[in-house]
Amino acid sequence: AGSELRYDGQTVVVTGAGGGLGKAYAVFFGSRGANVVVNDLGGSFKGEGTSSKAADVVVDEIKKAGGKAVANYDSVEFGEKIIDTAIQNFGRVDILINNAGILRDVSFKNMKDADWDLINQVHVKGAYKCARAAWPHFRKQKYGRVINTASAAGLFGSFGQTNYSAAKLAQVGFTETLAKEGAKYNIIANVIAPIAASRMTETVMPPDVLENLKPDWVVPLVAVLTHSSNKSESGSIFEVGGGHIAKLRWERSKGALCKADETFTPGSILAKWADVNDFSKPEYPDGPANFLELLEQAKQLPSNPPAEKLDFTGK
Ligand code: NAI
Repeated sequence: AGSELRYDGQTVVVTGAGGGLGKAYAVFFGSRGANVVVNDLGGSFKGEGTSSKAADVVVDEIKKAGGKAVANYDSVEFGEKIIDTAIQNFGRVDILINNAGILRDVSFKNMKDADWDLINQVHVKGAYKCARAAWPHFRKQKYGRVINTASAAGLFGSFGQTNYSAAKLAQVGFTETLAKEGAKYNIIANVIAPIAASRMTETVMPPDVLENLKPDWVVPLVAVLTHSSNKSESGSIFEVGGGHIAKLRWERSKGALCKADETFTPGSILAKWADVNDFSKPEYPDGPANFLELLEQAKQLPSNPPAEKLDFTGK
């Protein structure tokens, strides 16, 4: 249709595009006029081995459908090489989808440094290296769109995934700061927590559930967020999968305000524990509490009464 979102003349880098979600993004952008860099290291979902095949197959598919694509087989840890592939082949980079990822699930009790380090190398360092290499181009052309990939595991925690959870929530802070630093240069960054059938989830979810979680159904949100018509949605967190899209944000409780004097003891906090937990009049902040103002307000308060009962009921 004439109203479909298109990306003609733009170059999109999709990391981990040899399968799963990354492939769905790459094929989509290839079908909508973009030049696509299909990056994939081609290893196992645990991050073992390498192969050029994963990326090649997707490049072939895009080309056969009449699109423009080139493969890159570097690990995202060497993001500068991936961005270089975009510049060498297409002369520019406009959109970066940080999607590559692996799992090293193991209970925290049995976590080894190698499990921790590899997850952080791929997810945290990988997203950093790709974005860092694209950044000067984005700034110079005053245009850039970034998608980083978090996970429900990062947002909510997930048994056996301390390494992955830590690396995935890191994407949120990373994105929020990129959005702030990029705003002046028309660089827009958002983070998604997707859910989709892939080799990563096929062992943990039943087939009938996976059937309803096609990677293709994560694509429309990514398409909207990375399109030039998105000029304001930045620094946001989205949950997306199976046709459902929702935004997440921070919520701040009313909070306890205590006078900061010699009566401000651990017990005085317990006396106001209910206020710490009071979400009846929440704020939805995009920055820290205004502590200077709160400090002034607290000065007007009487000294803190000693807690009558030292427990967490707050009553
Ligand atoms: P997938 O395993 O099908 O795709 C990940 C791709 O990244 C693979 O093709 C793999 O070869 C590639 N890759 C791995 N390490 C790489 C590296 N160092 N350099 C370059 N490429 C590398 O898995 P899926 O599900 O498509 O995952 C995509 C992203 O979405 C990941 O970041 C994952 O953590 C995230 N995610 C997926 C969820 C899901 O339900 N499928 C849930 C939450 C997050």
